[in-house]
Amino acid sequence: MADGSVYLPFTDAVETATAPLWQKLRTRVTPLEWRLQAPLIAEINRLKREKNAVILAHNYMTPEIFHGVGDFIGDSLGLAREAARCEAAVIVQAGVHFMAETSKVLCPDKRVLIPDLRAGCSLAASITAADVRLIKQRYPGLPVVTYVNTTAEVKAETDICCTSANAVQVVEDIAREFGVDRVILLPDEFLARNVARQTDVGIIAWQGRCEVHERFTAADIAELREAWPNAKILAHPECPTEVLEAADFAGSTAAMSDYVAQRKPRQVVLITECSMADNVACDSPNTEFVRPCNLCPHMKRITLENIHDALLLDRHEVLVEPSIAERARAAVQRMIDLPPPAVPARYDLVKARHHVDVELI
Ligand code: 13P
Ligand code: SF4
Repeated sequence: MADGSVYLPFTDAVETATAPLWQKLRTRVTPLEWRLQAPLIAEINRLKREKNAVILAHNYMTPEIFHGVGDFIGDSLGLAREAARCEAAVIVQAGVHFMAETSKVLCPDKRVLIPDLRAGCSLAASITAADVRLIKQRYPGLPVVTYVNTTAEVKAETDICCTSANAVQVVEDIAREFGVDRVILLPDEFLARNVARQTDVGIIAWQGRCEVHERFTAADIAELREAWPNAKILAHPECPTEVLEAADFAGSTAAMSDYVAQRKPRQVVLITECSMADNVACDSPNTEFVRPCNLCPHMKRITLENIHDALLLDRHEVLVEPSIAERARAAVQRMIDLPPPAVPARYDLVKARHHVDVELI
């Protein structure tokens, strides 16, 4: 039973309304789970219409959220772009707090809700606005690029944002604009190292880590190769460089989905957060997914129950102080205004740059 609601029964009407969705989810959800989830999905979709709300769902949401109630689904870049152009009065962020802040920064007049205020991120927690101010003093004149996985206060101190889908493009663009050969790229050390391997622009990095992706190792990839010699291995650029070197392909979560949809591998391993494979598998019935499972505890705070309660009880609103929001918006908007990549960017770790290192702050 959801906090703010009465028990929602699995009626014939619910069964009929959710039947197409059940066909999609039936390999990921048990019939017993479905009897609890389907009424919530139907009610959330009704509440969205009643409240003129949309749900932005990240690729790491569980499948009943991602496929069941997400109006816009995708990676961090795609969700930020959708927030910027969406016309609803209310945005419910099925993702983590920095994503909700980004939506609020882009849409100051909309009500942005997050179903659980505790949905944080180890990268966003790794750096503060005061840290960025000190870094700027130490490297005057160099542009600061921040990953979107940061608080609005941190974004407000920076020149432009990036996501894993466009980091190389952003770094090269801003270096050209500032007429410099080095940029500061915060706060993900591994993303910075992986970007450095693909560009001549020098990278100054911070030692933040994603607690999900930092756990993958080259030894994990070697074991997977031995056990599944025909499987294609796709890795996220928040993983250590040795993992990307050992993988067949590396890119943002959208780039991984795109790879599976376009190339239809017979077997695949997604080296990223665990629910992503479930979501892609629902759309790729002919691909077998091998599943090493690292869960993001922050993403997993979001459930159908608390999405339902967020809509019903109009909670928990995410606010950003207007002067911070204005400065953060400039950095996010500058990224959004870049031409979108024709295909999601792929990380091709250039062997010739094997010696390239980043300067760690
Ligand atoms: P992308 O969806 O941008 O690849 O980000 C992955 C991630 O870890 C988000 O928290
Ligand atoms: Fe942050 Fe990593 Fe979780 Fe994404 S997966 S929200 S980067 S901790």
